[in-house]
Amino acid sequence: MTCNNDKIMMMTRTEELEQRLNRLVKFGGIISTETHLPKLLELITDQVKHMLNGDRCTVFLLDNQTNELWSTIAQGMDNTEIRIPYGKGIAGHVAETGEITNIKNTYADNRFNNELDKLTGYKTKTILAVPLTNINGKIIGVFEVINKKTTYFDKDDEGILMLMGSLASSAIENAQLYENLSKSQLETIYRLAVTAEYRDQQDTAIHLRHISEYSGIIAEGMNLPEKEIEDIKYASPLHDIGKVGIADAILLKPGKLTAEEFKEMKKHTLYGSKILSNAESHLLQIACKIAAFHHEKFNGKGYPDSLKGEKIPLYARIVSVADVFDALCMPRVYKPEWSPQKAFNYIKEESGKSFDPEVVEAFLKKETEILKVHDTMDGRTTIIPGMHKPHKTPHRNSV
Ligand code: C2E
Ligand code: SIN
Ligand code: SIN
Ligand code: FE
Repeated sequence: MTCNNDKIMMMTRTEELEQRLNRLVKFGGIISTETHLPKLLELITDQVKHMLNGDRCTVFLLDNQTNELWSTIAQGMDNTEIRIPYGKGIAGHVAETGEITNIKNTYADNRFNNELDKLTGYKTKTILAVPLTNINGKIIGVFEVINKKTTYFDKDDEGILMLMGSLASSAIENAQLYENLSKSQLETIYRLAVTAEYRDQQDTAIHLRHISEYSGIIAEGMNLPEKEIEDIKYASPLHDIGKVGIADAILLKPGKLTAEEFKEMKKHTLYGSKILSNAESHLLQIACKIAAFHHEKFNGKGYPDSLKGEKIPLYARIVSVADVFDALCMPRVYKPEWSPQKAFNYIKEESGKSFDPEVVEAFLKKETEILKVHDTMDGRTTIIPGMHKPHKTPHRNSV
C-alpha cells in the first residue's frame, strides 16, 4: 500500500468534503477568466473528469434557433460537432425536464440513444447528467460525465456536478455573449465608432486601437483580473461613439470652440450612453459606462454629472487617462500634436485633479509599454484587439 492510499483512507469525511470544496472554489476561479468558448469548454470538461473520476465529460449547449443540443467531441485528431434534438437521448431528456439523471446501466435505459457510441466506437456504461441553468433559471445546456472509473456515480457526485454546473453556467453564458458579439455585432458597433470619429481625425482605426491598448496596459498595471483587462480593451474603443450626434460645424471646427459650442460638444457623453444603454451584453454595459463617464474628473469638475473620485466607474477613470494621452499626442483640427514626453508630464500634473492617482501611477509605471504602442502606426492595425488586416499580396499591389 502506498503512502497516498494511507492518506486517503485516513481522511475523515469532513476533510474530504473540505478538499472537494477547495477544488470547487479553484474550479470557479479558473473558469471565470476564460472568455474563449472552445477553450472554456475544454477547461471545464478536463476539470469535471478529474474531479468526478469519470472517463469522459461532454458539455451540450442548447441552440435556441434549432432547438438542438450541440457539442463537439474528439474523434481521432479531429473535433466533430454532434447535435441531439431537444427531448431525445439522456441529454435531451435532462434539458427538457431539468432533472438530474444518474444512470447506472445505460444500455438498459430506454432513454439512452446509442447512436453516438456507434459513431465513436466508445461504450457508454454509466452517465451522470445535470442541467445547466443560467441565473434566470433558463436551461442553457446539459453536463454529462461518463463511465466512472470505479463502479458508478453516487449521491456525492450528483451534488458536486450540480455545483460545478452552476459555476460553469455563468462562465459559459459570458463566453457565448463574447462569441456572438465578436462575430457580427462587434463589427457593426466598431464600424459605427469609426463613423462617429472619422470626421474629426484621420487614422481613426489607429487612434481607437491605441486607446484600447493604453487602457489594457493601465488595467494590467493596476493588477486587474485578466477578464477585466480584456473587457476594457474591447469596450474602450466605443468611448466617443456619441460623437455621431455632434454636428460637423462643431466637431470639425478648426479652432477653439465657443462656450456654447463646447456645451453642445459635451453632449457626446449622453448620446453615447444612450446608444449603448439597454444592451444585454456585459461588454456593452461596460462600454456604456465608459461612454457616459470618460470625461468625469477625479476632483469632481468634469462632465456630465460632476462625479467625484470612486463615484466614477473605474473603467471610465482608466479610459480617461488613455483618451487624454492619445488626444494630446495626436494632431487635432484645433491643436498640433504634442511630444509623448510633454503628454506624460501633463498626465502627471493632473494626478488627483483630472485623474485618479492610482490610475496615473499604473500609467507611469508602464511608460515603456505605452511608448511602444505610441510608436506603432502600423497600417494593418484594426480596432478589434488581436486582429490585423491581411497582408496585401505583392502581385495585387504591383499594378
Ligand atoms: P478629443 O479631441 O478626443 O479630446 C479628448 C480630451 O483630451 C479632451 O476632452 C481634453 O480633456 C483632452 N485634450 C485634448 N486636447 C487638449 C489640449 O490641447 N490641451 C489639454 N489640456 N487637453 C486636451 P474635452 O476637453 O472634454 O473635449 C472633448 C472633445 O471636444 C474633444 O475630444 C474634441 O473632439 C472636442 N473639442 C474640445 N475642444 C475643442 C476645440 O477647441 N475645438 C474643436 N474643434 N473641438 C474641441
Ligand atoms: C445521450 O445523451 O443519450 C447520448 C449521448 C452520450 O452518450 O453521451
Ligand atoms: C478644452 O477646450 O477644454 C480642451 C481642448 C483645448 O485645450 O483646446
Ligand atoms: Fe470624449
